Amino acid sequence: MYSEKVMDHFMNPRNVGEIKDPDGVGTVGNPVCGDMMTFFIRVNDDKLEDVKFKTFGCGAAIAVSSMISEMAKGKTLDEAMSISNKDVATELDGLPSNKMHCSNLGADALQKAIEDYRAKTGTGEEEKPSGK
Ligand code: FES
Repeated sequence: MYSEKVMDHFMNPRNVGEIKDPDGVGTVGNPVCGDMMTFFIRVNDDKLEDVKFKTFGCGAAIAVSSMISEMAKGKTLDEAMSISNKDVATELDGLPSNKMHCSNLGADALQKAIEDYRAKTGTGEEEKPSGK
């Protein structure tokens, strides 16, 4: 039912843990299944220098978090923002359809962490006209 990649990331999740004094943190939960995940990011020069996560959830949620952390590391913030739940599922060689919401959780948590960083640093506001 699960691909080998999903099983691998579930059994040996990458980047588990917390970043001390992170630049951004994002937590999302799914009220239906009760699963929760938190992403921590370290930003350097507009790039994700480090990404870690803690997931209290099902096997698919853990595999998704692990895969997203690998996909996001080294990317610019804009690139990381555009990682979709579909991208993650594709990288994992697919997820069962009743587990697609698990991948939503991962993409959302990473985006929240980036939004948190941008809100704290005001870097999401650059495009606002300053004249009037
Ligand atoms: Fe809810 Fe997987 S069952 S995140």
